[in-house]
Amino acid sequence: MSAAKQTVLDAFRFRHACKKYDPAKKISREDFDFILEAARLSPSSFGLEPWSFLVVQNPGLREALSGAAWGAAEKMDCSHFVVLLSRRQAALQEDYRRRMWADIHGFGPEAVQIREGVFADFARNDFALGESPRAFDDWAAKQAYIALANMMTAAALIGIDSTPVEGFNAAEANRLLAEKGLIDPELCQVAVMAAFGYRAAEPRPKTRLPAEEVIRWIE
Ligand SMILES: Cc1cc2nc3c(=O)[nH]c(=O)nc-3n(C[C@H](O)[C@H](O)[C@H](O)COP(=O)(O)O)c2cc1C
Repeated sequence: MSAAKQTVLDAFRFRHACKKYDPAKKISREDFDFILEAARLSPSSFGLEPWSFLVVQNPGLREALSGAAWGAAEKMDCSHFVVLLSRRQAALQEDYRRRMWADIHGFGPEAVQIREGVFADFARNDFALGESPRAFDDWAAKQAYIALANMMTAAALIGIDSTPVEGFNAAEANRLLAEKGLIDPELCQVAVMAAFGYRAAEPRPKTRLPAEEVIRWIE
């Protein structure tokens, strides 16, 4: 196996949902910027990047968040704690899409118009995003999970542990961040959270369904 493949597989085997962090070990700024860059460079449907990242280092906010995030309660002494936010439907309207496609990705007016048409069709017919505001919000949140995965892999590649955190009460977490003025809950919601740091103890060996059970080749 090539060295590159081995490096990536080793990182996936190293990565586990870290249950307890060594509070004395902190990730350097350079390393955490690397993890954040992996998030920022992540792919998203239609290139809309419907996410943003709150790096919660404030002890008071961590404490408050742990009240809403039972899945993170034991991990709040990690080195870096991130709340991955996703845009809600009201924040993914035509003006935002136009900015992304024209200003950020550099498409001309005609290409933007074509994308607008394809997106409208996708949203209405293919994924039925208009069915309920929840459908649209969930679709945007799914994009944030891609960034989450990339952050965890990037971290693992440089020997940093992580925990994805879905163990939170969404309404409470959104309310808390809104109360603190950190989000406008009409425009933005918590998609998922993640802790990063260094393990306090070795994890149990990795357990997975066998490949034959989850992979099917149709030839
Ligand atoms: C989206 C997502 C949310 C998760 N939420 C939590 C959580 O709130 N707390 C926790 O301790 N683990 C959480 N996990 C970790 C999973 O339980 C763990 O990834 C799974 O059991 C496989 O174990 P491994 O990651 O150690 O290989 C979450 C994992 C994912 C992918």
